Amino acid sequence: MRLDKFLVACGIGSRTEVKKILKSGRVTVNQLVEKSAKVHIDEIKDQIAYQGEPVRYEKFVYYLLNKPKGVISATEDSKHRTVLDLLDATARQKEVFPVGRLDIDTHGLLLLTNNGALAHEMLSPKKHVEKLYQAEVAGIMTQEDSSRFAQGIELKDFTCQPADLEIVEVDDSTQMSRVQIRIAEGKFHQVKRMVAACGKEVTDLQRVRMGPLVLDEGLDVGDYRRLNARELELLAIFGVEL
Ligand code: URA
Repeated sequence: MRLDKFLVACGIGSRTEVKKILKSGRVTVNQLVEKSAKVHIDEIKDQIAYQGEPVRYEKFVYYLLNKPKGVISATEDSKHRTVLDLLDATARQKEVFPVGRLDIDTHGLLLLTNNGALAHEMLSPKKHVEKLYQAEVAGIMTQEDSSRFAQGIELKDFTCQPADLEIVEVDDSTQMSRVQIRIAEGKFHQVKRMVAACGKEVTDLQRVRMGPLVLDEGLDVGDYRRLNARELELLAIFGVEL
């Protein structure tokens, strides 16, 4: 692998930044200063250091994004900005992709990674990974709706698995409700369709949890950060190389 590509992949900086860093003589390959971006290194055998600190190659990266409304959970789109447009060059260089989809007008937790095996496990219907949503609804949601959710709502093309609807607040004067919905499936527009089946409409939808990952309240809308060591430990339940 080219040295500049390796350093970008390790999160040292963007390609342009890495070129400058190399020119300044702060990178060594096997204890010798290396200024050429083009030189090829063996990322396993060679010892690369930046400012005297060893640089390690990361095969997989994991980002927790607080997705804003108005961006698409895809890697490319001809019309709209995608979640990848929110990431810096280092993250994009690792070729991450979103684990599952949120609608363009849904906000909240989205995991981005280049670990295909993990994504496969987290999205597998057999794994029943639980997702928690907070929704604002036009209309008053009732205990009867909760019972329907618990029994499994019948939609036109499929019957949903039993799901949990918790009514957080209802406002009779505005005819609005705030609810929490927990589902272990991830069909297209599922939450909106389940609420619509009860004769009401989701006006705001936020995902706050996916499996063991919880939306970080310190993360502003549109911001992202790497998963921390604790979160990575939690992902071990999926039994794939992390
Ligand atoms: N359910 C929906 O209807 N939309 C989402 O974005 C996620 C779940």
